[in-house]
This record gives sequence, C-alpha cells and structure tokens, in this order.
Amino acid sequence: MKTPATEMLQVEYPIFAFSHCRDVVAAVTGAGGFGVLGAVAHTPEQLEADLAWIDEQVHGLPYGVDLLMPRKFVGAESGGMDRGSLRDMIPLEHRAFLDDLLDRYGIPPQEAKPPAPAGTAGQQRAALQVDPKSMAPLIDVAFRHPIKLIASALGSPPDWLVQDAHQRGITVAALAGTVKHARAHAAVGVDLVIAQGTEAGGHTGDVSTLVLVPQVVDAVAPVPVLAAGGIATGRQMAASLALGAAGVWCGSVWLTTRESETPPAVKERMLAASSEDTVRTRSFTGKPCRVLRSQWTIAWEAPDAPAPLPMPLQSMLSDRPRRRVEAVAERPGSPAVDLLSPFIGQVVGQMNAVRPARQVVLDMVDELVDAWMTVDKFLAD
Ligand SMILES: Cc1cc2nc3c(=O)[nH]c(=O)nc-3n(C[C@H](O)[C@H](O)[C@H](O)COP(=O)(O)O)c2cc1C
Repeated sequence: MKTPATEMLQVEYPIFAFSHCRDVVAAVTGAGGFGVLGAVAHTPEQLEADLAWIDEQVHGLPYGVDLLMPRKFVGAESGGMDRGSLRDMIPLEHRAFLDDLLDRYGIPPQEAKPPAPAGTAGQQRAALQVDPKSMAPLIDVAFRHPIKLIASALGSPPDWLVQDAHQRGITVAALAGTVKHARAHAAVGVDLVIAQGTEAGGHTGDVSTLVLVPQVVDAVAPVPVLAAGGIATGRQMAASLALGAAGVWCGSVWLTTRESETPPAVKERMLAASSEDTVRTRSFTGKPCRVLRSQWTIAWEAPDAPAPLPMPLQSMLSDRPRRRVEAVAERPGSPAVDLLSPFIGQVVGQMNAVRPARQVVLDMVDELVDAWMTVDKFLAD
C-alpha cells in the first residue's frame, strides 16, 4: 500500500499496533505493519531489555515507542513532585474504601504479584509514571535503539523532545481526542497525528472516531493522520481511509492475540465480552479510561464512593490494590476475577477468537480489499 504514513515510515501496510508486549510489536512489524511498544510503565532496565530483544527479531524493520506525556497532573507546575509528598496527599478515606472493597473479595492485605525479571514474559509493570523527570531515562534508552517513531499521549510532546527526535531522523507522533489537541500537536511540529475516538481502550475522550477523524484531517492538513479507536478489521480500516486517514492505529485487538501476555482468565473474559461491556472510568488513573466493566468500576460509581483523585494520585492509590487483585485472580475459581478491569475498547465485542498477531494484520488487509471492492461496485453500478 502507499499512503503518506507508509511513505513516512517505510512500511508495507499502514497498520500501527500499540502494545505493551514486545512479542506483539515484533510480530506486527514482521508482518509488514508498524509495532509500537507502550513503555510508560517500563523501568529503564525493562525497556532496554525489550528493545534489545525487538532489535534482534525485526532485522532492521521499523518500530516505535510510546510514552505518556500529560501536561496536566498534580505537581505539573513544578515539573513533578517527589513520590513521598504525593503519597501524603492521598486521603485516608480513599485508602479505606479500597481496603474495604478488597476485603469483601477476601484478598489478603499483603499479597501482590512480585516483579518478574526484566525481559521475561509477564514482567511486572511499574507504577504509572507521568512527570518529565521519570520519562527522561526512558527516552534516553529509546534513543539508543534504532526506533523510527516516538509517540506521546495525553499531551503534546515538549519542544526539546520534538527537536531531539528530528535530529535523529525519528518521526514524532501524538494522540489527540479533540480537534484542539490535534492542532496543538501540529503547532509543536508533530509529524503524525493519531485521532483517537471515544471507542478506544485506555485513556480516551468523548468524541467518536467517525466524527473526530475527518475534522482532525482537515484541521492539521498536510500533517498525516492515523485513525484510532474502534478499529480491528479491514472494514473499519477501509472506513478510516475513506475518512481521510493515512492509516490506522489499533490497541485493543492485539490483547487477545496468541503473542499477547494477557493472563488466560482475562483473555477469556475479553473473548466473551460484548461492546456494551466497557465503561469509561477515572478510578484507575484519575483521567477517563475505557476498561472492561467489573465490580471495581461498579464500586467506584456507587453514590457512597469517594471521587477519584487527579493524576497521578489515583494511580498511586490503586496500583498496589490492583496488583493484589491480579495476584489472587490467577487462582482458579477465585472471585477476585470479578474485580479485574483490563483497559480495552468497544471493539472487544468483535474479538472472538485468538489469532497470531501476524494473522490479524493479514486478515485486515484482505478484508480491506474486499470492503473497498464492495464500495467500488456500488459506485460503478
Ligand atoms: C491496554 C491499553 C493500554 C493503552 N495504553 C496507552 C498508552 O500507554 N499510551 C498511548 O498512547 N495509548 C495507549 N492506549 C491507547 C492506544 O494507543 C490506542 O490509541 C487505542 O487502543 C486505539 O483504540 P482501540 O483500543 O479501539 O484499538 C492503550 C490502549 C489499550 C487497549
């Protein structure tokens, strides 16, 4: 295929795969798409191990790295506060609320998944890092590898990062959930804007992909735009290209692939879920995030629940309890499974079988051609 995105990044298909799992990244890149490793919860050591592994697998084919760079978070004005001071800002009421929730599911106070060594499958994710100080070592590691793209979410990348990446010949991309954000990205020199609709898994706004993408395409032209949110098939890819996108950026669909490290019990829940089973919640990170609905999200929506805290306090509050839930939920028959809320988008309703990531890419391309021919036939007739 030939679009501004394939030209820019020298790939066969404009299918971008956001994943925290290095195996998915390497498989998609190997299939002619473009794998992007989500690294916000990596330690620098884990990132080094994962990128070295990807380099070995992809033999020079292009891939990228994604980091969260929010502009708005507690302590942003001072460039980030130390963790101790942030921890002191978490009200006891919030801690008591979560302790009570976990008690009701019989989850022992001290049990949390121990960190797995860097570079191993299922390595433990570090707590969400949002301030520029904790991001800098990850960027240093990423720049030591032959990455072709660096992406940022939740805010425009800082000027120094755009300049540094450009000097190294690295494409800079940024996610936008509104036209205003997309314009801000273009203004700081971003090369590729990802217009992500509310359908998406993870942090997401409230405008749908179908409505957002054409507006962003017009607003930032000639900067190419990738469509994201609710895209898992070739039909959805065809629609995205018709909206003016130069390609698609998918996250959810990889979570049930053979390579994905999603725990088996969670994969099963994803395969069984329908599109109505997701919900946007602030209860994990403090910003709206689309996840699979669970007793956790239901509890936070109850009238007696405390209001979620702003980023990064809510993720600091919820990180350990969440790991305690994950540790216990792995036991067969554990009721803790009902508290698991993996980040996932509305396309979960279309994710009904486990496939290799490579197959997902090839199926999308085949289906895209079929969809295009169907439309073409309508026009010809
Ligand atoms: C599990 C999960 C975690 C995500 N984490 C991030 C992230 O750290 N950084 C980011 O830019 N986007 C993140 N996203 C959003 C994806 O990059 C992508 O835009 C989104 O998944 C596209 O919509 P889809 O889920 O319908 O495919 C995440 C998505 C999922 C499903």
